[in-house]
Amino acid sequence: MSAALYPADLLSGSAETGYGVEQVALSSIAAEFGTPCYVYSKAALLGAWQEFVSALAPLSPLLCFAVKSNPNLAILNLLAGLGGGFDIVSGGELARVLAAGGDPGKVVFSGVGKSRAEIETALRAGVLCFNVESPAELLRLNAVALDVGVRAPVSFRVNPDVDAKTHPYIATGLKESKFGVAWQQAIALYEQADRLPGLAVHGLDCHIGSQIIELDPFAQALDRLLELAEQLASRGIHLQHLDLGGGIGIRYRDENPPAMTDYARILIDRLQGRKERLLLEPGRRIVGNAGLLLAQVEYTKTAGAREFALIDAAMNDLMRPALYQAWHEVRAVRDSGVARTYDLAGPVCESGDILARDRQLAIGEGSLVAFLSAGAYGSSMSSNYNTRPRPAEVLVDGAQVHLIRRREPLEDLWADESIPS
Ligand code: LLP
Repeated sequence: MSAALYPADLLSGSAETGYGVEQVALSSIAAEFGTPCYVYSKAALLGAWQEFVSALAPLSPLLCFAVKSNPNLAILNLLAGLGGGFDIVSGGELARVLAAGGDPGKVVFSGVGKSRAEIETALRAGVLCFNVESPAELLRLNAVALDVGVRAPVSFRVNPDVDAKTHPYIATGLKESKFGVAWQQAIALYEQADRLPGLAVHGLDCHIGSQIIELDPFAQALDRLLELAEQLASRGIHLQHLDLGGGIGIRYRDENPPAMTDYARILIDRLQGRKERLLLEPGRRIVGNAGLLLAQVEYTKTAGAREFALIDAAMNDLMRPALYQAWHEVRAVRDSGVARTYDLAGPVCESGDILARDRQLAIGEGSLVAFLSAGAYGSSMSSNYNTRPRPAEVLVDGAQVHLIRRREPLEDLWADESIPS
């Protein structure tokens, strides 16, 4: 399979005979592993990765997979095996990367609130770079590095002040965002970093937002970054890498996400022949359309003019619809009866626990449904709200299915709690 750019690219088979992923029927996955269950396709993941590698070949970038989008060890391990690096935002993510066999020398550490302990662990592990997001963090990083007896490699995450034209919760490049350092402050901060004995200036970083559909803001951000790199060079500060972040969008519904070749063209036109190495931090574009959430209808119910399908997946399993009003395409795994218009609601005690509205589906009690485009920020944002164990996760590889996360055992949910005696 090539890159799964559109939701249904992930599916094999048909609604008449029953959908599958690669050569495995979703009904057999449900029978073996239960529902709700996240299902990923190895071929789709590899296809999406390869699409980046091929389109950007003239620049041979280091692709640092955004761990937050899907931190499952099997997925990190697969990408590490392809030579991938990682973008992390916590000590927990660093530990996962190491547990998955990732190379710390290919890790960039982003995030606005790095603790002392996280900084120290990352320094000892030997990460490639810290993407520094505030003047205060710079001083802390310098102090911890001096304590550890190393020089910390740094980039600043600068805020190019462009509008990524995405959902306000995931646009990050504006002047008043909590992320990054102001464009106007950057030169002074680089000069300061250059003088601090615990630091070594390595690169320049930006990430303007996630689910970017229009490339113009991305090109503008890159132009601003290059301007800044020139200004730094004229002050004797020479960068080893430029990190353009992640953010390239996918189709959930009817968006027209950028073609990889158009994205690559912007980068190649501006960066070919330069000395700095290119780093990217893609998450969603790699794994978003390589995964789905499989669920089962428990009941159907009429409420006034609305028909509900009450399913066994909920907002705790897939939070995006409740949090961002996100739209995930839903397919009946196998059509059954006549199609009606349903709202698909979970069992969680919140009115917001509706995973999809107004979907024409031929389903009834016991039907399986698949929420597409759920590979990124699906499992990784799941919680135990309502004391619901988090779903199982499986990775399909041709005709094989690997369980890559067992369904959380119920007792684990309170294993760390105690009753005072
Ligand atoms: N680098 C940095 C510094 C980031 O903050 C992010 C995402 C990425 C890379 C990866 O972005 P991607 O390529 O996946 O778009 N939970 C939201 C998305 C939050 C994104 C946060 N940062 C959602 O479900 O849409």
